[in-house]
Order: sequence, then structure tokens, then C-alpha cells
Amino acid sequence: MIGLRSITLAVLLGTTAVHAGPEEDRQRFREFYQNRLSSIPLEAHVDGAYAMNAGAREQWLEMEEFPPYEFELDEGQELFEASFADGESLASCFPEGGQGVRQGYPYFDEEAGEVVTLELAINRCREAHGEQPLPYLSGDLAKISAYMAYTSRGNVINVPTPQSEAALAAYESGKQFYYSRRGQLNFACSSCHMQNTGLNLRAEILSASLGHTSHWPVYRLKWEELGTLHKRFQECNSQVGAVPLEAQSEAYRNLEYFLTYMSNGLEINGPGTRK
Ligand code: HEC
Repeated sequence: MIGLRSITLAVLLGTTAVHAGPEEDRQRFREFYQNRLSSIPLEAHVDGAYAMNAGAREQWLEMEEFPPYEFELDEGQELFEASFADGESLASCFPEGGQGVRQGYPYFDEEAGEVVTLELAINRCREAHGEQPLPYLSGDLAKISAYMAYTSRGNVINVPTPQSEAALAAYESGKQFYYSRRGQLNFACSSCHMQNTGLNLRAEILSASLGHTSHWPVYRLKWEELGTLHKRFQECNSQVGAVPLEAQSEAYRNLEYFLTYMSNGLEINGPGTRK
């Protein structure tokens, strides 16, 4: 009996593995949180852990009234509008002059055969105009990214469904990274942000991964400045005793591609503030 059941299960899993595509993954991802955290509307997860606790949320809303990222956001606008040495500016590299476009990133660039994040696109633009690339974790790049997110607030995340085999492979590699155990603790992203979501890890409530990419860059009180999503990936890797990867490494870009695709349909609300 047990043998038969496991065979049936294997057959079932086999079938899903063959047919499950990104869009089915996304539906299941949403259903998971809908069932697991049924009192929280799915759209609310863009506020991370603050969607889950009324007291923490109240404090956070107060903080957002005079957000600590305000100065960096203004600097981001200046940097965005500044002319390069050749007279062009960032606006020339983006659709809509770079206004309100955050929701389309990251995307899979079929010609280059890789995932392009907003931060990568900003630096590629600079380099194409003879400027130095900026460091990826914080500072000027995070400020520019914050300004671009700000102009996109309220826009719905809309990462195109992978169309080619190469795009699907990048998506699958991001998905695998998300569900793979690593580090001394042997935890996957999903161990904390799915299996234990809504529960406390020391003083912190574990957020849902739905909405995880909506609000970057983030001003963390701990960082005392804006930092990028890949900086957070590094911290979450280090936290379990795994070696963090380089910001904008292929693996992190693929992870961002998968995670953002999962959040398609939610709103951009960056930049954000977190503890
Ligand atoms: C040991 C548990 C643990 C693991 C494993 C873990 N994280 Fe986290 N993560 C946290 C904690 C704690 C926080 C801060 C509280 C929160 O927002 O969930 C956090 C926060 C985050 C945030 C910021 C949430 C926000 O609202 O801004 C992102 C994004 C994130 N993690 C992604 C990941 C990814 C991707 C992985 C896998 C590479 C991962 N985490 C693995 C514990 C973990």
C-alpha cells in the first residue's frame, strides 16, 4: 500500500514537473500564502513583516511619514537628471525616459541571454556613455534606483513570462536557488519565508516572499542608509552560515527574476523603510 502510494505520488509529481510553468508556479505561490496567512490580503505583503503585526505596523507608518530615505531620494533625482560627460543622461537609456518603469525589471534580455536588473541597466547605461559603473550595494546607485522606484509607485509589477528556453532556464535557476538548502543551518529561503513565515525569528517576524521585491531599495535602520535587494540577499545568505554571492552575480539576478515574477500583479511601493 505504502509502495503504491509513493509510486502514485512520484507519478503525480513527475507530471507536475513536466507541465508546471512559471505562471502555475505563481498561482501556487499565491495560494500558499493565501492559505497560510489567510487573514492577510495578498496585496498587503508588499509591506513585508509590517503586514503581519498591528503594533509594528503603526510604528512603521509613523516612520514613513518623515521617511529616513528622503535626502537620499532627492540626491537620487539629481543623480538621475545629471548629464554625463558626453552630454547625455540616464533618461536616454530607458523607455519613457526612465519615469515609472520599475515594474518591468528585472527582465530577460534575449539578445544578451541574461537577466537584466534595474541596477545593472543603470550601470550599463553609464558605461555606454563613458562613465564608471557604481558600486551595487548602497550609495549613488541605490539612490538612483530609489528615485526610479519612487516614480513607479502604484504601478503593477509586470515581469514578462519567460518565452525562450534560455529565459526559462534563468527562471528555473532562480527558483532552484530559492528552494535549495545551504549554509551551516541548512536552510533554504523557503525554510524561513514560507515554512516559518508569520512566525518570529528572534525579534523579527518572518515576512512572506510574495512582495519581497516590491519596495527596493530599502532604508534599513541597521544600515543607516539605502541598500539594494542584493545586499539583503547577502545578509540572508550569511545569516544561515552560507557564503554570500556578489551583488549582481548571475545567481542573484536569476533569484531576483524568479522572486519578482512571483510578485507579478502586486504594486511597486519603493523605496521602503525597514528595521
Ligand atoms: C534563517 C532564516 C532566513 C533565511 C533562510 C532567509 N531569510 Fe530572508 N529574512 C530573514 C529575516 C529574519 C528577515 C527580516 C525580517 C523580514 O522582513 O522577514 C529577512 C528579510 C528578507 C527580505 C526583506 C524583506 C522586506 O520586507 O524588506 C528579503 C527580500 C529576504 N529576506 C529574502 C531572502 C531570500 C531570497 C533568501 C534565500 C537566499 C532568504 N531571505 C533566506 C530570515 C531569513
